[in-house]
Amino acid sequence: MRSQPSNPLETEVAGLRLRNPTMLASGILGTTSDILRRAAQSGAGAVVTKSVGPKPREGYPNPTVVEVGCGLLNAVGLPNPGIQAFAEEIRDLGDLEVPLIVSVYGFSPEEYAEVAEAAVEAGADAVELNLSCPHVKGAGADVGSRPELVSEIVERVKGVVDKPVFAKLTPNVSDIVGLAEAAVEAGADALTAINTLRAMAIDVETARPILSNRIGGLSGPAIKPVAVRCVYELHRELDVPIIGCGGVTSWRDAVEFMLAGASAVQVGTAVALKGLNIFRLITEGVKSYLERKGYGSVREIVGLSHRG
Ligand SMILES: Cc1cc2nc3c(=O)[nH]c(=O)nc-3n(C[C@H](O)[C@H](O)[C@H](O)COP(=O)(O)O)c2cc1C
Repeated sequence: MRSQPSNPLETEVAGLRLRNPTMLASGILGTTSDILRRAAQSGAGAVVTKSVGPKPREGYPNPTVVEVGCGLLNAVGLPNPGIQAFAEEIRDLGDLEVPLIVSVYGFSPEEYAEVAEAAVEAGADAVELNLSCPHVKGAGADVGSRPELVSEIVERVKGVVDKPVFAKLTPNVSDIVGLAEAAVEAGADALTAINTLRAMAIDVETARPILSNRIGGLSGPAIKPVAVRCVYELHRELDVPIIGCGGVTSWRDAVEFMLAGASAVQVGTAVALKGLNIFRLITEGVKSYLERKGYGSVREIVGLSHRG
């Protein structure tokens, strides 16, 4: 007889114990501690903050987010209060019931390291490096598309923090595995795949791009097959925990990502469009799936689609 863990949804990513394999994705619910606390109370297994940088940043003028078929298109421009002010919110979350993952960005490897160090000092349980935002020049995917810079950023950050470091990858490259290899060789403890896909929408009446930044990132169900493919390739080539992200809206999506090789999933657009109750719906559905299929733990299904 297989021994049954008391909670079949419990899992672990890079040493972080999770009560279930769902996380709030970065950037979806703003930067206040209250809203992150609500995400935890609503059943998320962990929460990731909005990306925070070295200095306060306003972001782009509206329109910054527009609903398109099968998802959202956004170019918010990384608005955030800067790590100094945000450290207060992190400290406020000291008693959070789930792991707090702080998403960080910078315009150089030194800045990534400075922000990550301050985030961990303030109480972050892990940091997620935003190497993938597709619409800010000099940060995110601009640096995260170059393996040598990914490597330097991860190495610097690992040199100053003693908590798990996740590298969040961009799908807007021909070789996501090459980027991931650079991150893992430099010491990344887990990979988050993926951030948004570069995309745009044009208003046919005004004949102008809708987003003020013109080009933004596509999220939601439209990108799920791309994200599943990325997770599958990463799991096939590398031995490192993967967090799947991109279009997770139902328990079926979460299971699909785990079968592809994800140890956990992040939920973004579905939280924005359907509300925080989505975490309960997903976790209850995953639990029923495990029972129906006879699995004792969610860990048993990670990477199962690679068999044979
Ligand atoms: C409005 C909005 C803001 C976002 N801000 C961030 C951010 O600050 N940092 C980051 O790494 N990803 C950010 N993302 C990307 C999401 O975390 C996620 O990678 C992406 O939306 C795909 O997941 P989804 O389809 O579940 O939304 C943002 C996405 C949206 C829609």
